[in-house]
Amino acid sequence: MKIFLDTANVVEIRAAAQLGLVDGVTTNPSLIAKEGTTFKERIKEICSVVSGDVSAETIATDWEGMVREGRELATWAPNVVVKAPCTPDGLRATRVLAEAGIKVNVTLIFSATQGLLACKNGAYIISPFVGRLDDIGLDGMELVRDLVQFCEIYDFPTQVLAASIRTPNHVIAAAKAGAHIATMPASVFNTLYRHPLTDNGMSRFLSDWKTLPAYEEAIFPRQTSAPTAR
Ligand code: E4P
Repeated sequence: MKIFLDTANVVEIRAAAQLGLVDGVTTNPSLIAKEGTTFKERIKEICSVVSGDVSAETIATDWEGMVREGRELATWAPNVVVKAPCTPDGLRATRVLAEAGIKVNVTLIFSATQGLLACKNGAYIISPFVGRLDDIGLDGMELVRDLVQFCEIYDFPTQVLAASIRTPNHVIAAAKAGAHIATMPASVFNTLYRHPLTDNGMSRFLSDWKTLPAYEEAIFPRQTSAPTAR
């Protein structure tokens, strides 16, 4: 399962990318708005930090506008993926953009039928919003499971991206469901590698090791004789 960061904050993206674990980034208008910078500059900056897919969302509500914006967004960097909402216009724009060879992430997917239609129209990625479905008492991960199954049965090349991830348990459930991608805020990403027993174990090992005389020598032994010149 690929791990994407769901943020437009470059400091967060750089920090996580240093671990070698960031396969891509998703942004949306709300995340961009929090950053107080221009959309184009920020997307280009993110694309220079991360070599994987970076989703940038169209703002138009009509299909012609989405296609126009999508064509422009796709020129900003080779790894831009155009986001279009799962509306009738968004689905129409997806078909047009996909036929022009532009990768589309169909976003705001809340039902299996929406996901199926997006796959049929050539979506490169579909984004079911798990957390927002859970918020209204539904099972968001059930939708991810259904969509992964559709992709398998019909051999759609579309990737199912579990979006609106709120907890590490969502990440585990997305992996069990066979999601191709999970996108998450940095706050969730940073919980994935932490465990108090790892921290305790490390400090116990280190304090025991320090009881050895010259403990560093075990790893970096000092040279006892000068190397002979050749
Ligand atoms: C995905 O691409 C969306 O940006 C995101 O996951 C939305 O998450 P939220 O429901 O936490 O806003």
